[in-house]
Amino acid sequence: MNDILRNDPCWCGSGRKYKKCHMYADRDKGRRNRNILIKTDAQIAGIRKSGNLTCRILDKVSDMIGAGVTTNEINELVQSETVKNGAIAAPLNYLGFPKSTCTSINEVVCHGIPEDRALVDGDIVNVDVTCILDGFYGDASRMFIIGKVSSEAKRLVEVSRECLEIGIQQVKPGNTFGDIGYHIQQHAESHKFSVVRKFTGHGVGVEFHEPPEVQHVGQPGQGPVMHPGMVFTIEPMINAGTYDCKILSDNWTAVTTDNSLSAQWEHTLVVTETGVDILTR
Ligand code: MF3
Ligand code: CO
Ligand code: CO
Repeated sequence: MNDILRNDPCWCGSGRKYKKCHMYADRDKGRRNRNILIKTDAQIAGIRKSGNLTCRILDKVSDMIGAGVTTNEINELVQSETVKNGAIAAPLNYLGFPKSTCTSINEVVCHGIPEDRALVDGDIVNVDVTCILDGFYGDASRMFIIGKVSSEAKRLVEVSRECLEIGIQQVKPGNTFGDIGYHIQQHAESHKFSVVRKFTGHGVGVEFHEPPEVQHVGQPGQGPVMHPGMVFTIEPMINAGTYDCKILSDNWTAVTTDNSLSAQWEHTLVVTETGVDILTR
């Protein structure tokens, strides 16, 4: 059901038949369909279970977050809820990351490190949670608005959420990754916001970050073709100013170079026979 047939177009977007392109290379990897990009139904079920837990943990964050709460307290909640449910927090010690979740406030684009700073009225903050449950990864993030925020901040949070939804609407067999990026970029730029290039969505499920890279900008019909059984994230980072980012001296925290606000929402998805299924809900 999930197989790419030998005469189908290759998943990589080359326009060549699968047998003339990646079929033999994929076989060497010894996976179903010889292709790391296509998950089995059992793998999808495992990723969904993990994704459900990720979503429940974000619900708990939603219940406790507010002015006066420190990002370390959010981190402790994510860690304890993860362990309580028999899972592992994927960020902890991932390439040396020191905490169990990423908390990215205001001009922080992504990979903010929880600390003892308390959230204050007017902040916007992304909390990014990834569980490993029975070996499967579920990756999702949401924005939270603290107290009364500026109208620009509110609009940025809304538009970034719409960007994720619009990206998800492009997910179906035969569409390309360029279609996802194109529609996200159109929407963000129509609101005079910009789309971060430096960080992307990604294949996910058996590892934290797998191919393909899912860009949030692009051209219709360009890039790899989507096939049923592909599992990946869409996680557009939208900036109020320019899309340029830099990484602080902690080697993780990515901020906008012009200090403008940034917002992001993320889901883990699977391509189905007819469209898309969100695995982190
Ligand atoms: N969860 C992030 C993502 O969406 C990755 C965080 S990597 C970490 O891809 F090391 F910072 F946790
Ligand atoms: Co991700
Ligand atoms: Co994430």
